[in-house]
Amino acid sequence: MRWLKWRTALVSVLALAACARSQRAEPTICEEEFCRCDSFTTVICNCVSDNEVTLRPDGAYRVPSTTSGIVIRGCSRVNFLPDLARNLIQLRTIELTNVMDVIINERALSWSPFSRENEMHPGLRILIQNSTVNQLSSYAIQGRVNDIIITDSRINNVRPYAFSSLTGVRNIELKNNLLYNIERHAFSKFTTVNFLLRGGTVDTLPSRFLSDVEVTNLFRVEGIAVKHINSVTFLVSSPKRVLIESNLIETLDPDGFHITTRGPITFRNNTVSTFSRGALLGFTVDPEVISVKGRQELLVDNNTITHILPSSLVYNQTTLSLRVDGLNLNITCNCKLTEKWKDLLKEEAGIVTCWYDLEAHFMSVPTFADSRCGTFKRTFWIFIVVGIVVVLIVAALATYYIVRRETEKKKKVQIVMPDGKTYRETEFHIVVERAELLTTNL
Ligand SMILES: *[C@@H]1O[C@H](CO)[C@@H](O)[C@H](O)[C@H]1NC(C)=O
Ligand SMILES: *[C@@H]1O[C@H](CO)[C@@H](O)[C@H](O)[C@H]1NC(C)=O
Ligand SMILES: *[C@@H]1O[C@H](CO)[C@@H](O)[C@H](O)[C@H]1NC(C)=O
Ligand SMILES: *[C@@H]1O[C@H](CO)[C@@H](O)[C@H](O)[C@H]1NC(C)=O
Ligand SMILES: *[C@@H]1O[C@H](CO)[C@@H](O)[C@H](O)[C@H]1NC(C)=O
Repeated sequence: MRWLKWRTALVSVLALAACARSQRAEPTICEEEFCRCDSFTTVICNCVSDNEVTLRPDGAYRVPSTTSGIVIRGCSRVNFLPDLARNLIQLRTIELTNVMDVIINERALSWSPFSRENEMHPGLRILIQNSTVNQLSSYAIQGRVNDIIITDSRINNVRPYAFSSLTGVRNIELKNNLLYNIERHAFSKFTTVNFLLRGGTVDTLPSRFLSDVEVTNLFRVEGIAVKHINSVTFLVSSPKRVLIESNLIETLDPDGFHITTRGPITFRNNTVSTFSRGALLGFTVDPEVISVKGRQELLVDNNTITHILPSSLVYNQTTLSLRVDGLNLNITCNCKLTEKWKDLLKEEAGIVTCWYDLEAHFMSVPTFADSRCGTFKRTFWIFIVVGIVVVLIVAALATYYIVRRETEKKKKVQIVMPDGKTYRETEFHIVVERAELLTTNL
């Protein structure tokens, strides 16, 4: 009996010890030095200086399965391990602020906890601010995501399919970021309501930066400075509105924007150094929209472009109508230029300007042509120039003869004066006599 009691006690003590050991061996991230968990659902890490945080799906210091949010501020490094989010059914938000080195490994944020795809199911909100993302691996972010918002950050090394197979996306916003080393297919095969790329600097946007992305409402690229937009950088379908505004683009390749829209397109207030032939040729309109609403407008307004030819503006005439409301050619005004652009000026009522060096401002090409380049004006200028040359030659000749005669007169006077009158008279007579002889012979 006694032995049995002892045995029971021993077993329970051992069990307790094992339990304790297992708990001690498997602390969660909530026990991490700089982190805490608010009622076990939000993981909050407030780092100072060089603290690092690793987000693990299992094992010691794992992210608890009940987690609904991950909020991290000020760490020197945050590492999302593969499959981190897979079993975090309650997860809704991920927020990173002031992190100096973010690494998101393959499938770290692949999150599809619901068996059937349904936008009524909740989705993730991923927010990254004032951070440096040094690695966005392939398939890093997949599944049911509401919003992806990255602002004031530096994003290096985005691998193919980093953002892919997403469902139910409302907004993708990239604002005031520095984007370097972005690979093809960075955003691939999904549907979002809005896509916004605003402000900041981009090195080169590769072909298929957005690859088969359906945007159902607004596609907007605004205020970015970009070195090179390659052919088919944006392979996008369905937006109701396309706005490409106030960007500084060094080189825009043909078909850079390969967008099938369901509404108008505005290309406004951009400064482009090299605008390739066919840069706008990638825009077309969804056939359904064409059959219901007809051609859609492609508005080209107030852009400043250095290297461009009228043929650069070719566009898809079967689906779009082009309206040029303002086009500043960063080319010094000259009459050849006005000839070149004449046809477009006839077709479009729009205002095309060229750089008027003398007064250092843009001047309407027709105005310049009217004041400088009309056939009459050109001949008029030629007449004036020829006239001036003729007058100068006549004046020079006249002066020459007058001066010569004067000198000759003076010479005669000088020769005659010292010898007296007789000499001069005889000479004079001889000349006259000869002349008379000649006339009588005739
Ligand atoms: C941005 O993050 C850096 C550290 O990465 C920090 O020093 C700086 O104060 C942050 N800026 C703002 C506006 O929060
Ligand atoms: C036009 O673009 C420039 C940058 O290129 C920007 O500074 C300016 O505010 C824009 N103007 C409008 C009216 O959007
Ligand atoms: C037109 O473009 C110029 C040069 O980029 C800019 O300064 C100006 O604000 C723009 N005006 C409008 C009305 O967009
Ligand atoms: C214009 O768009 C239609 C419909 O998308 C397409 O079939 C056609 O090839 C395009 N034309 C040109 C010249 O790109
Ligand atoms: C206009 O062209 C000159 C060189 O031809 C260049 O230096 C200048 O930056 C250009 N201006 C704009 C607004 O592109």
